[in-house]
Amino acid sequence: MSMSKFWSPFVKDLVPYVPGEQPKLTKLVKLNTNENPYGPSPKALAAMQVELNDNLRLYPDPNSDLLKNAVAKYYGVQSNQVFLGNGSDEVLAHIFHGLLQHDQPLLFPDISYSFYPVYCGLYGIEFDAVPLDAQFQIDPADYAKPNGGIIFPNPNAPTGCLLALEAVEQILKASPDSVVVVDEAYIDFGGETAISLVDRYPNLLVTQTLSKSRSLAGLRVGLAVGHPDLIEALERIKNSFNSYPLDRLAIVGAAAAFEDREHFDKTCRLVIESREWVITQLQAKGFEVLPSAANFIFARHPQHDAAGLAAKLREQGVIVRHFKQERIAQFLRISIGTPEQNQALIDGLGDL
Ligand SMILES: Cc1ncc(COP(=O)(O)O)c(C=O)c1O
Repeated sequence: MSMSKFWSPFVKDLVPYVPGEQPKLTKLVKLNTNENPYGPSPKALAAMQVELNDNLRLYPDPNSDLLKNAVAKYYGVQSNQVFLGNGSDEVLAHIFHGLLQHDQPLLFPDISYSFYPVYCGLYGIEFDAVPLDAQFQIDPADYAKPNGGIIFPNPNAPTGCLLALEAVEQILKASPDSVVVVDEAYIDFGGETAISLVDRYPNLLVTQTLSKSRSLAGLRVGLAVGHPDLIEALERIKNSFNSYPLDRLAIVGAAAAFEDREHFDKTCRLVIESREWVITQLQAKGFEVLPSAANFIFARHPQHDAAGLAAKLREQGVIVRHFKQERIAQFLRISIGTPEQNQALIDGLGDL
C-alpha cells in the first residue's frame, strides 16, 4: 500500500526541481552545473577555519549582521536593504511566497531558470511564460502588460544572454505597481548590477548568490537587495520558517569573500577569458553560440543532435547540461572550466 496517504494533499501534485547531476566519480570534467572552476577566496577559507571551534555549540546570529554589513558596504546600501538566505534558491522561495503571490499572473521568460515554475507550483502562483524573441533575447516590451510580478535572470539562464540596464529600467517603469525581481546569479561575469537602481525603484528586488562568482556553491549563501519594505516581507517569512538559515561558518566565510576583491577580480577575469576561448573553439567546429555574459555558454550545432553530443561527451568523461525542453532541445549548456577542462571539452567533441 502506498504511504502517500500520510501526505498533505497538495504534496501529490508537486513537481520538484531536478538539479544537475553531482556525480560521485571525481575524475569527470564537470561542466554541467555552472560551478566556478577556481576555489573560493583563501581569506574566506581562513575565516571559516578560525570559526571552526567550540562555539559551534551556540546558535549563529539569526540576523547574520556581520554578513549583512559586509554586503551593504560592498554595494553601498543600508543593511536594512539586504536579505540573506541559504543559497539564492531559498531567497527566491521566500520571494515567491511573500512578494509574488497576487491575483494577476507572474511573468517570466519561457526559457529561464527552471526553478521558477516549481516555486509557482509550491505556492500556488499562476504564471504566464513570456516567449523570448527569435534570437532568444528578452524584449522589455513583452512585459508591459498586467501582471502580479515579474522575474527574470540577468544574464538569463540557460541562454547566458544579458539585458542592458536601460532595458531593465524599461521593465521597471512599465510595472510600477508590481515587484520586479532581477535574479543576478551570473551578473559578475560580464553584466552591470541593477542594485544601483534600488533607491530609485521601490518595486525592484535584486538577488545574487555566492555560488558562482565567489565559488562557494557548497556553502549555500544567497542574498537580495531592495527597498526595506520588500526586505521586511522576506524577514517575516524567514522568521516564520527558519530563524537560522546561515550557519556560523557561512556567515564568516561569505563576509570574508566579499572583502577579498583581489581574488574575486582575478577569478572572474580568468573565467571570462576562458569563455571567449571556448566560444571561438566551438564556432570553429560549426557551433552557433549565443552571446554570453555568464560563466557558461549555450550552443547548438546545425548538423548534430544535442542529446547525442552530450552522450558522446559523457563517454569521454565530460558532462554538460542538456534540457529536453521545447525550443532549446538542440542546445547544450556548457559551464566554463579551467583551461585544461575546456580543452577536454573541445577534444571530447572531436571532429564534427
Ligand atoms: C538563474 C539562477 N538563479 C539562482 C540559482 C541558485 O543558486 P544558489 O541557490 O546556489 O544561490 C541558480 C543556480 O544555478 C541560477 O542558475
